[in-house]
Amino acid sequence: MLRTHTCGELRRAHIGQSVTLTGWVQRSRDRGGVLWIDLRDRYGITQLVFNGSKTESALREQARSLGREFVIQASGVVVERGGKNEKHSTGDIEIKVENFTVLNSSKTPPFTIEDNTDGGIELRMKYRYLDLRRSLVRDRLLLRNQLTRQTRAYFESHNFIEVETPALIRSTPEGARDFVVPSRINPGEFYALPQSPQLFKQLLMVAGFDCYFQIVKCFRDEDLRADRQPEFTQIDCEMAFVTQEDVLAMFEGLIRHLFTTVKNKELPEIPRMTYSDAMRLYGTDKPDIRFSMQFVELNEEVKGRGFRVFDEAELVVGFCAPGCATFNRSQLDKLAAFLKKHEIGVHGLVWAHYTMDGVWKSSVDKFYPEDTVKTWLEKCGANPGDLLLILSGTADKTRKALGELRLLIGEQLGFRDKNTFSALWVVDFPLLEWSEETGRYLAMHHPFTLPKREDLPMLDTDPGKVRANAYDLVINGTEIGGGSLRIHDRQTQELIFKRLGLTEEEAQKQFGFLLEAFEYGAPPHGGIALGFDRLCSLFAGVDSIRDVIAFPKNNSGRDTMTDSPSTISDERLAELAISLVPKR
Ligand code: AMO
Repeated sequence: MLRTHTCGELRRAHIGQSVTLTGWVQRSRDRGGVLWIDLRDRYGITQLVFNGSKTESALREQARSLGREFVIQASGVVVERGGKNEKHSTGDIEIKVENFTVLNSSKTPPFTIEDNTDGGIELRMKYRYLDLRRSLVRDRLLLRNQLTRQTRAYFESHNFIEVETPALIRSTPEGARDFVVPSRINPGEFYALPQSPQLFKQLLMVAGFDCYFQIVKCFRDEDLRADRQPEFTQIDCEMAFVTQEDVLAMFEGLIRHLFTTVKNKELPEIPRMTYSDAMRLYGTDKPDIRFSMQFVELNEEVKGRGFRVFDEAELVVGFCAPGCATFNRSQLDKLAAFLKKHEIGVHGLVWAHYTMDGVWKSSVDKFYPEDTVKTWLEKCGANPGDLLLILSGTADKTRKALGELRLLIGEQLGFRDKNTFSALWVVDFPLLEWSEETGRYLAMHHPFTLPKREDLPMLDTDPGKVRANAYDLVINGTEIGGGSLRIHDRQTQELIFKRLGLTEEEAQKQFGFLLEAFEYGAPPHGGIALGFDRLCSLFAGVDSIRDVIAFPKNNSGRDTMTDSPSTISDERLAELAISLVPKR
């Protein structure tokens, strides 16, 4: 190699040795008689020093022309450093340079390559390869790499086989739009990019592979958010001959292994909560249980006192914010303004508090005397100094809005510390959910989920009540993974397709291969997929999964570095038998 050591390697023990380093010029400091250069590579930073005699002053003069991000090779002797730098592991030593070579020059980078850079997000994405040189960003990818390795190590020790599944497939429904790829040799026909390898992993179970995993790219054409990218990575898994308990235990084991080995944290046993409790107590199917502030329903306590807003509401529900009784008008107004965003069908915010001096008071004193307000606060288990926040309206929307408010207050109160981790299994999801948009029931997870046997009789009478053997792994309020036991017989699968509105012909056309496979001895099976990018961002303590992806897309789904997506030539379009309609 062009170097004897890396820039993160040298210590006091190396003093006196002749070494050669390679790397990028991070910065230089010039004191006339002495010039220092910080040399950086993937492993760290080592200080080079140019000082001393006349011959060396010529070298120093040459080194003065080294700009930021020049790539150099420098040889010299390791010497003890005068002023130690505790920020770097190499901070006890420096290299007294005897000669150096410029391996490549660099233009002045468009932003400073420092942790605290002056570059905005768009600029950093356009020059992502420079952004990736920043230690902050690089360390996140190193963390990701550790998580990949430990995931493979865990599966290796549990007999899982890694199998690659195709990327050009027939569509598998996961609730998003497919990205499609035209087939040149089959004009007018398209592949879909997999939203997940769902059906292939099930077919691997039919094939007898028993325990499968894959760290795999998935593609979904949906609106982007901080935790969504159009292409993202799953740790995709499936097991045969298992119960739901077996699946939960295996993947709880994985998560705990990752926490121990990568984060050096012991994750306690992961508690369970049913979907219906999660919705009732937190207004969401992914509750952040780092803090309590559970919902309390107040319908009985508030109705019939002449306050129309509450009287007409389907649900009146609130939670206690500890120590917030001192919130002033403007703080409460800010909460109300925040709610406006989520307010559809929800009436304004009502508050009640229990002051430190024992006063019970509410914003609707006109309708409710102090005694009544006291019963509300007592029902919520309020302590002196607590504030009760109440919303009312239609049940679903009110819960959802209150859930958002709970998160906001939790954040404000410092309960959402990124270094505290609370995992939760949410179980017993409904099989189906009503879609206002299509006016029919859709699969809540996907159409291959096994309904709870005891709920099957309700499939025609009360479809929304049928529960599934489906579960999500939630950590700190983020859905990290989701899975289910699967249907493995043709009859039940056909029944569910029918319930989802597919005719027999449609089911046969789209999923005939699966239905047929179920007739050749399909074993009972189930699995899960973990959102790997989300897991990495959780471990890295960052808000967006973009920060843990080497080359992510921006909010409009663009890669500004390669300028993609892009148009293609008329010849290519003709070859693919595609004609474009003019842009609207
Ligand atoms: P599901 O659709 O719940 O299940 O996806 C599994 C996990 O993948 C992550 N995820 C995403 N991450 C980033 N960007 C996205 N656009 C995105 N979409 C999903 C989430 C989610 O929990 N085939 C089933 C799994 C199974 O049943 O085994 C599936 O894909 O963390």
